[in-house]
Amino acid sequence: MNASESPNPPYFDVLFDRIASGDHEAVTAFGRHVHWGLWESNAADGTAADYLQAAERMCQRICDAAKIQPPARIADVGCGFGGTIASLNERYQSLAMTGINIDSRQLQRAEELVVPAAGNQIQWICADAASLPLDDAGFDAVLAVECIFHFDRPRFFAEASRVLRPGGVLSLSDFVPQPRMAAFMDGGAGPMSEAIQWTYGDVDMSCSLEGYEQLAAEHGMRLLVCDDVTEQTLPTYDFLCEGARRWHDQKHAELFLQATGWLQKASRKKMIRYLILSFEKLASRAG
Ligand SMILES: C[S@@+](CC[C@H](N)C(=O)[O-])C[C@H]1O[C@@H](n2cnc3c(N)ncnc32)[C@H](O)[C@@H]1O
Repeated sequence: MNASESPNPPYFDVLFDRIASGDHEAVTAFGRHVHWGLWESNAADGTAADYLQAAERMCQRICDAAKIQPPARIADVGCGFGGTIASLNERYQSLAMTGINIDSRQLQRAEELVVPAAGNQIQWICADAASLPLDDAGFDAVLAVECIFHFDRPRFFAEASRVLRPGGVLSLSDFVPQPRMAAFMDGGAGPMSEAIQWTYGDVDMSCSLEGYEQLAAEHGMRLLVCDDVTEQTLPTYDFLCEGARRWHDQKHAELFLQATGWLQKASRKKMIRYLILSFEKLASRAG
């Protein structure tokens, strides 16, 4: 992404407006986690409380792919409102956690919401994922929950590899295209580009699974977990679109529906898969 021009994804501006206006559904569904939900069965009930539970399930699944064993030092890059750190803080003790985000408004909310539990430490840092102000080999796990499509992927991989200790794990989730989709999109989404740009900002959904394996190899890492949860994320789309149909701003709601509907179709057809991926930093290579 071009952080200097547009550091904050537009959907966060909409979300901040909704939270400020006291929109109960927005606060419940997206006040902690701002990512897709994961349903074990197809039994989504369409409520904000159900969505929050599904988002928490997704967060825990991505954290579990990082194989965290306390005591541990964890960097959550693109941490949003701190929901992942809040979840880890509730589940584990003896964690030193660092939340990093490019948008200071989100960090301010995270700091207000998440109080370190006894035995845990939390710090919040405003920085770009492509240039992490963190020590070399200082972390056991790096997390990037549904945000890597906003980052400069190669630079973030280099940074994640640099800050992980040998044996440490990078865990992330992403929208990963099938080969035929990658050829079609060529880094963008064709006719949907404007709607996607307005709704989700600068996103790059062009990195295939092979692309990830190559990035990992280039940066001294190997694929550890590849969990295709596409099917389990599908109720997300109806929940998001139902909500947008009630927005007052009809022009932007229409763009949101176009962009999200496109992604829903691509996901249903398995052209784009929602993958949880984790990578182990290999011992033999420094930096
Ligand atoms: C879909 S949200 C996910 C937020 C959080 N991980 C969660 O799951 O609730 C994507 C996040 O990436 C952040 N972001 C976008 N570009 C970034 C960058 N270059 N460096 C750090 N964070 C970035 C956004 O501000 C946003 O908080």
